[in-house]
Amino acid sequence: MSAEPLEIHLEEQDLGRNLRQDVRAGLTAEEKWLSPKWFYDARGSELFEEITRLAEYYQTGAERTVLRDRAAEIVTVSGAKTLIELGSGSSEKTRLLLDAFTRHGDLGTFVPLDVSVSALRESTARIAADYPGLRVRGIVGDFTRHLDRLPAGGRRLVVFLGGTIGNLLPAERAEFLAAMRAALESGDWLLVGTDLVKDPAVVVPAYDDAAGVTAEFNRNVLRVINRELGADFDPAAFEHVALWNPEREWIEMRLRARHPMRVQVLDIEVAFAAGEELRTEVSAKFRPEGIAAELRAAGFVTSEFWTDPAGLFGVTLARAE
Ligand code: SAH
Ligand code: AVI
Repeated sequence: MSAEPLEIHLEEQDLGRNLRQDVRAGLTAEEKWLSPKWFYDARGSELFEEITRLAEYYQTGAERTVLRDRAAEIVTVSGAKTLIELGSGSSEKTRLLLDAFTRHGDLGTFVPLDVSVSALRESTARIAADYPGLRVRGIVGDFTRHLDRLPAGGRRLVVFLGGTIGNLLPAERAEFLAAMRAALESGDWLLVGTDLVKDPAVVVPAYDDAAGVTAEFNRNVLRVINRELGADFDPAAFEHVALWNPEREWIEMRLRARHPMRVQVLDIEVAFAAGEELRTEVSAKFRPEGIAAELRAAGFVTSEFWTDPAGLFGVTLARAE
């Protein structure tokens, strides 16, 4: 079956409005910030895929190990008829679940949702070609705003892989999980991947790799803003910074101005002092008890929590109560 045309829940116009609001709020704040959502144009999505292949970026391999070992169990326990994937990107690891559903389950529909049109277009075409008989309904949407539009009907399993939930700030995460629970029926399932707290000597290089791919990914957000909003950022004038915050147990990616500069964005002139930093991403690392507590607070019951053998990455299967 070929993939259905993408369902657009996030029109160019809406995306542009959302970007303008974020950029205005973030670049006029006392401590400048941008949302990590804006990394992922076609180039950003490609750079992320390149990151997943880096030796330093342990998350993808660790999560893949868990999915490989537990896919059959996930299929049997969830009994899902519809698989929904948030922030799906290439959906490469999700194939392990699709394969298991093909062998042991009764899956009718796969619904990947992503802000990145390019990633979604490629992934839906490939998956539809490789899984004949599966209905593939790609949705261009924002998982912080469009969860109320997920398809209803049939037992559903929502998967949120890669540790992307850690890119939400704690309050955003609570809001996301509550909205997720509200979008589901009691008895539906959520599978969520979380990177775990570990030695910063392992975490930091994953965000500051020797080949400089993550640095390029980080600077890409400035290229997106230049193109979409006609801004005049000089990406080379910003140094990539990856910093472990031991109190919050998260990595912060920042862009540090190499010299004083003024940047024209929208109708504002943004001044950067030499060394001033712009926060572009938070990537939280979790403890098992914290994940279960956040899920419980949102109305989910943890059924299983698995890690890879080295204990780097966690995958939780939870049921909507
Ligand atoms: N799930 C994949 C990709 C992770 S990269 C993996 O595990 O490898 C994060 C993905 O989430 C990107 O494809 C990005 O475009 C998407 N994304 C980021 N913020 C989003 C948002 N607010 N709504 C929908 N998708 C988002
Ligand atoms: C998508 N997300 C979980 C990645 C992360 O590790 O936080 C994005 C990323 N940022 C830098 N490298 C990869």
